[in-house]
Amino acid sequence: MILQKYIPADLPEVIRTARASALKDLGVSAEDWKALAEAVMALSDFYVKHPEKSSPWDETWAQIAYVAYYMPLNWWRLCGVVGRGQELNYFDGFEHYVDFGSGLGSLGFAFDQAGIGFKSGLAVERSREAVYLHRQLAQASMTPIDWQSNVKSGQIKAKTLGVFSYSFTELKALPEWVQACDGLLIVEPSTKDDARRLQAVRGDLLASGWHVWGPCTHAAPCPLLTHGERDWCHDRFQWSQPDWLKKIEARMPIKNGTLPCSWLMVRRDPPPPRDSTVARMTGDLQEFKGFAKQLICRGADREFVAWQKKDFKKGYPEIGRGDLVRVKKDLPMKAQELRPSLAADVARLN
Ligand SMILES: C[S@@+](CC[C@H](N)C(=O)[O-])C[C@H]1O[C@@H](n2cnc3c(N)ncnc32)[C@H](O)[C@@H]1O
Repeated sequence: MILQKYIPADLPEVIRTARASALKDLGVSAEDWKALAEAVMALSDFYVKHPEKSSPWDETWAQIAYVAYYMPLNWWRLCGVVGRGQELNYFDGFEHYVDFGSGLGSLGFAFDQAGIGFKSGLAVERSREAVYLHRQLAQASMTPIDWQSNVKSGQIKAKTLGVFSYSFTELKALPEWVQACDGLLIVEPSTKDDARRLQAVRGDLLASGWHVWGPCTHAAPCPLLTHGERDWCHDRFQWSQPDWLKKIEARMPIKNGTLPCSWLMVRRDPPPPRDSTVARMTGDLQEFKGFAKQLICRGADREFVAWQKKDFKKGYPEIGRGDLVRVKKDLPMKAQELRPSLAADVARLN
């Protein structure tokens, strides 16, 4: 397993300290693993029972669960997504961001981690409890942040990136003000429903003049959406959990052995000219007797790479779901399967 290079080993010291102090204010120690696990399970049960409801920020157990567990987990995922965006130079040229449904600000911390600073960040959050906690955690933010409970189109400055991290799932549609932005980054849970909804939104955005920068390496209709109901496009970051997170997860049935999520990056301006040999792996490796295959995306067709055991006796190439690859020109194809015979025929780019 190749650990994802954009996933840091642990939270930065400044956030670890702020997190411990916020938990203390909420009446629990950052090392009371049992109490933290109970709070996380209570919030998880809430979401399972009420998938349509917004985050219950007025409950202390929900605040504890967010500060202790979900904020760090979302931060790790977002570090992965921001890394994917940096591979594409996606963040170049933006001067401001609007983070809608900012919660505890995981996204701003991921920008800090990647060394991406903005002239301003606007955190739009309707929960007063979340804003209070976010302010406590964000004292060392690289980008100066303001908070508001909503935002209007007239407030969007030139060169603004609009961001939705695990918040579009709580909305019926994208709000009107996104039309005033120069880019949109949407990160969603990796569930089939959320991811397919995001892929449908991708189609709507393309139809209204936006350009897709990632994860798609093309602007054709999404093959995982259009070729049936069984697929959904999502990424997966491999990581090694820090000990404190293992201690929380040891006390509950939830395990985050990997960090999956779905994401979309669009901009008003087109991406640099595309290299038609670059594609993205959209599946995990599936091993069968005599061969292994993995979904790949490079256009409107639903395609696989199929490695034959006879050609890869020492093991199949290790390419993660979500990684960019270079596909050798004129590689043999059978049905919808690319047939590499050398590791260099389909090789990881980063
Ligand atoms: C699941 S949390 C995600 C928090 C954060 N973005 C993250 O990635 O960790 C979704 C947040 O969206 C906020 N939210 C939902 N609908 C909203 C709305 N209409 N206006 C402002 N905030 C909203 C909720 O209060 C909640 O804090």
